[in-house]
Amino acid sequence: KGTANQKDFLHINDFDKATILNILDRARQVKELLKSGERTYLPFKGKTMAMIFAKPSMRTRVSFETGFYLLGGHAIYLGPSDIQMGKREETRDVARVLSRYNDIIMARVFAHQDILDLAKYATVPVINGLTDYNHPCQIMADALTMIEHVGQLEGTKVVYVGDGNNIVHSWLLLAAVIPFHFVCACPKGFEPDQETVEKARQAGVSKIEITNDPKEAVRDADVVYADVWASMGQKEEASHRRQVFQGFQVDEQLMKLAGKKAYFMHCLPAERGVEVTDGVIEAPNSIVFPQAENRMHAQNAIMLHVLGL
Ligand code: CP
Ligand code: NVA
Repeated sequence: KGTANQKDFLHINDFDKATILNILDRARQVKELLKSGERTYLPFKGKTMAMIFAKPSMRTRVSFETGFYLLGGHAIYLGPSDIQMGKREETRDVARVLSRYNDIIMARVFAHQDILDLAKYATVPVINGLTDYNHPCQIMADALTMIEHVGQLEGTKVVYVGDGNNIVHSWLLLAAVIPFHFVCACPKGFEPDQETVEKARQAGVSKIEITNDPKEAVRDADVVYADVWASMGQKEEASHRRQVFQGFQVDEQLMKLAGKKAYFMHCLPAERGVEVTDGVIEAPNSIVFPQAENRMHAQNAIMLHVLGL
């Protein structure tokens, strides 16, 4: 990369605990500043960011674009039909061309290899805005939200209920760095990637459990977390998955089993009545909207970090 302190943000466990905590701390500071109405802190002034989206998005697109703008920069949205990475043009060419115009490349792609290739050939920092494998920006925002609402992340119990997907992989990689108790309750055959589970366990930092029993799993949870059962790219499997995932809906009963202190979180978009009931998402202990807001604050800190600012 261009300078020694420029880095990519591809996986949470690419960073040590102190760095992750530093980024989260910075996110809180810059959030406070922006919430106060202060608009004179412009570290990204004169900088541009290319945002490649091979998949749809609301939160990722708007939070990156708004956050980068509020701190003085200009972000360029490139939708699924614009670049067509790997189809209209090879990823390594996209990486090198965009690096000549922009200070950061943020990308949301299908194959994880695409983000690795972008990072390999780009000469500016690359930020992972979700792949089929992981979603590190989301889990940084989730960690920030837990610090604000639960009071801390360390030592808490986070119970994810549903598909062992990209969100789970990022939780696992966070658990390889910060100590907490992570449980993934999923139907048989929908467990997270075994290698990632092993990697997280081998780090020896957190207690990690993969189970097929959501009722047992949620006991004493600080957070019960849900995501869609069919991710982007799997929508044709949606009706089959609705059958297989019976019993994995986060409903009022499951939240009751979790106990009074449990918050509900969901990365959104949610399918109400499918993986979560309307009642759970609208309940007072649901923190899905502060969580969504924190995407912007977490990412502002991530962008400051990768630019060495
Ligand atoms: N949570 C999340 O990444 O939302 P979008 O798909 O809307 O960006
Ligand atoms: N697992 C979901 C997350 C969306 C933010 C997906 O990949 O579609």
